[in-house]
Amino acid sequence: MTRNWSRRDALRALSLTAGSFLPLSSLAADENGYPILLPEKELQLDRPITAITLGAGNRGNTYGGYALQYPQHLDIVGVAEPIAVRNERYAQKHQIKAENRFNTWEDVFKKPKFADAVIISTPDNLHYGPCMKALEMGYDVLLEKPISPSEQECRDILKLAKKTGRIVAVCHVLRYAPYFVKLREIMQSGVLGEIVSIQHLEPIEHIHMSHSYVRGNWHNSKATTPIILAKSCHDLDILRWMVGKPCTHIQAFGDLKWFTANNAPAGSTARCSDGCAVESKCPYSALEIYYRKRQRNYVFDLPEDKDKQAEYVLQQLKTTNYGRCVYRMENDQPDHYTTNILFEGGLTASFSMEAFTSYEGRRTRVMGSLGDVVGDMNSFVMTDFLTGQKTEWKQSTDGHGGGDWRLVANWVEAISKKDASLLTSTIDQSIESHVMGFKAEESRKGKMVREVVL
Ligand SMILES: NC(=O)c1ccc[n+]([C@@H]2O[C@H](COP(=O)([O-])OP(=O)(O)OC[C@H]3O[C@@H](n4cnc5c(N)ncnc54)[C@H](O)[C@@H]3O)[C@@H](O)[C@H]2O)c1
Repeated sequence: MTRNWSRRDALRALSLTAGSFLPLSSLAADENGYPILLPEKELQLDRPITAITLGAGNRGNTYGGYALQYPQHLDIVGVAEPIAVRNERYAQKHQIKAENRFNTWEDVFKKPKFADAVIISTPDNLHYGPCMKALEMGYDVLLEKPISPSEQECRDILKLAKKTGRIVAVCHVLRYAPYFVKLREIMQSGVLGEIVSIQHLEPIEHIHMSHSYVRGNWHNSKATTPIILAKSCHDLDILRWMVGKPCTHIQAFGDLKWFTANNAPAGSTARCSDGCAVESKCPYSALEIYYRKRQRNYVFDLPEDKDKQAEYVLQQLKTTNYGRCVYRMENDQPDHYTTNILFEGGLTASFSMEAFTSYEGRRTRVMGSLGDVVGDMNSFVMTDFLTGQKTEWKQSTDGHGGGDWRLVANWVEAISKKDASLLTSTIDQSIESHVMGFKAEESRKGKMVREVVL
């Protein structure tokens, strides 16, 4: 990377102005009431793209929410979901005909093709089957990450996507997050001179860790996906995307340090509601998180009647993993994971995923020969080494970085115009960062440096 612009030109071109917060009108609310960033531009399409959602859980509803906000772009005409209440609520929201409602993804493909595309938001180990079938039948695809927990299956999907020529967008939503979009522009503009190295931190936040990777869906790497892919494939991907060069080598360390049986405090019980003697002193108390503070209750499919919700949550804590002691699960996901990455040309990056933080989001430091950047996912400060001048960029986004609906808009536009080159997160590019994840996991387990070969 060479400096081919004056700094003033670069700043002007990149619209770097201090205090450039987005107005609140750029945010909508998702169905759980959380803010969600709207796409940047209004698409002009001849007709809405029609899609079938496979898996009407959290992500299926995030993408479905886009169709409710922009019915002129996306129309959800089918759903496959085995949990009856989710299937029913999704069908009602999107007015899906009875004949297009299915219990499981396999049933969708027993019917002749009846939509432009499918949205695959099933659990990690149920991406490969529906994606291969969808491609064979000529559907375009929005595919949740990880592409698959198996490297071979990832490569099979890529091969079939190329053979069929269908559009497959992988949900690497950080590529659409305003913070990373702008950071990449800065890095690639040359204003920082030669980029020499990057430090990137993914602070998971301790309750989020306990919710998803100790108690929740991704607590066991063998049943789902190793955490480096389940959580951090976004980060490997965003590093690769911003650097703009392939990774050649990767090395990783880390393990499960804290959430194990031998750290269970004296007096603790199998469930927090079993009369645990230390419940009031435990930061991971399920009663405190889910029942008293009513956090992350979207996993419970709460009854519509608000008066019944508290009792319902209590029942869920007595029967589901969310009520179990964090020290007595069958979890195996590392709670600290550090990787060193070598990119072509010698640029190095260190990436750490950390469970034990009070905050979440991302933290990034980019070190260039003429300047550096320090950022926290909402804002960053760029410093020019020559003048010492600091320039700040800020933008309000939602709790997921702001990329969710921008990704859908990009995918819908690519399908509408039948042009995969419009996509920011294509399967070809996404596979690279997945291979980085698989190699990192091999390195962590084998304590050796792994070459990344595509
Ligand atoms: N891109 C991101 O930032 C991001 C964030 C979170 C999760 N994810 C990924 O999205 C996917 C879904 O995660 P989620 O949080 O929505 O999980 P979820 O459990 O809320 O939703 C998955 C849904 O799939 C349904 N399902 C299970 N078996 C099925 C089958 N045979 N046919 C159809 N549906 C079936 C489940 O009942 C559930 O409702 C996962 O692969 C996850 O790793 C991506």
